[in-house]
Amino acid sequence: MAINYSEKIPNNVDLSSDKRLQRALERWQPAYIQWWKETGPSDFNDADVYLRTAVSVDREGWAQFGHVKMPDYRWGIFLAERDKDRTIPFGDHAGEPVWQEVPGEYRNALRRLIVTQADTEPASVEQQRLLGHTAPSLYDMRNLFQVNVEEGRHLWAMVYLLHSYFGKDGREEAEELLERRSGNPDHPRILTTFNEPVEDWLSFFCFTTFTDRDGKYQLLALAESGFDPLARTCRFMLTEEAHHMFVGQTGINRVIKRTIEVMNEHPGHDVREYGAIPLEMIQKWVNRWSSSSLDLFGAEISSNASTFFAEGLKGRAYEEKKYEDHKALDEAYEIDVWTGERITKEEVPLRNAMNEVLRTDYIEDNRRQVEVWNKTLERAGVDFRMEYPHRRFNRKIGMYANGHFDPQGNPVSAEEWNANKALWLPTPEDEAYVKSLMVKVHEPGKIAGWIAPPSKGINGQPFDFEYVKL
Ligand SMILES: [Fe+2]
Ligand SMILES: [Fe+2]
Repeated sequence: MAINYSEKIPNNVDLSSDKRLQRALERWQPAYIQWWKETGPSDFNDADVYLRTAVSVDREGWAQFGHVKMPDYRWGIFLAERDKDRTIPFGDHAGEPVWQEVPGEYRNALRRLIVTQADTEPASVEQQRLLGHTAPSLYDMRNLFQVNVEEGRHLWAMVYLLHSYFGKDGREEAEELLERRSGNPDHPRILTTFNEPVEDWLSFFCFTTFTDRDGKYQLLALAESGFDPLARTCRFMLTEEAHHMFVGQTGINRVIKRTIEVMNEHPGHDVREYGAIPLEMIQKWVNRWSSSSLDLFGAEISSNASTFFAEGLKGRAYEEKKYEDHKALDEAYEIDVWTGERITKEEVPLRNAMNEVLRTDYIEDNRRQVEVWNKTLERAGVDFRMEYPHRRFNRKIGMYANGHFDPQGNPVSAEEWNANKALWLPTPEDEAYVKSLMVKVHEPGKIAGWIAPPSKGINGQPFDFEYVKL
């Protein structure tokens, strides 16, 4: 189905033939623009930004590049192509045809899954709203705004599901998605990580590496859903998510590269004398954001996760490709249980461990990423290695939240934790230092001193291209 760009809301869901839905979305649109102007990167609404816009969902044509003012971005509703023969891939209904409408008995659970995912999309835009002012280059500024408009589009995609399939309460949920605010004590976003401020670019790169990758795994699990419109929505969102992680991963790599340059130029000196970020400090940022992002997968043993799986609503990542037994009824899963004194092994029914299964895949993916950074260090002949902290480190949710663990996962006493915390996590002094480096560099081809330029530009453009016309 082609995307109709002459319509107010570009889409491949045949919106024009559903007048009721069209009216609901057109009513929601002004509130969305209002939200963008209030809480998005609002000081840059008049800038022309070199943005990628989705113009079709097939492999060839889903990205079109051109300078656009962000409020004029064509936020649209795109779903991956429908597979007419698709069956429910897992759970008690495995093998039955997928649902094109919401099954009544699973309505509340599905709505909750959709709202929880949807809420993260506008939240991240709110968290990142001031970063444009301290962008280290126009290239980076453009990447930030690209991520922002796409998170906005993800919100559109989820609101389409709420409006289209959940009637009045879906419309109310869609309104509330524009009313909650990241970090607002009275009306916060649903998940903790999405209420934490992202005030410096090192945090932004960690966020897009670790928190957007949580998004990738949640979307992979929902892309398996028996509720076909949700599965197709998430499949298309995943194509955009890859760029967000690219921005984070290459961002951290460039910070590391710059630090190595300064180390080589000034051996024996503290790189801070020359405005670079010490590797140990980058590690602390990694520790903070990776541990917070691990919390997003929920409790290790979870009856909700079991129910979502049994009902065919949320699967495992790559459920169809990776697994043979899609019922997961007879298997057990071994979990490290924290007794309050030590770690013991315990076998739990696999369905109850679905959060942990997803988290484990996510951790492996992150470890591979950290190894890419370590290759940069190795090639430069630097001994330091980045580490992905253990899943027990610095957790606020789940059973490990009831203890203290070092970055290798060993239990430590409260005294040891307090004595070492400043080595493991950013201190106020570290934060002040990183913030002091955050100065705007808004000239084409120029870059701040704490980060190396990218090895190539966006869409074949050079680094000194005017990615944002201010
Ligand atoms: Fe997203
Ligand atoms: Fe994202």
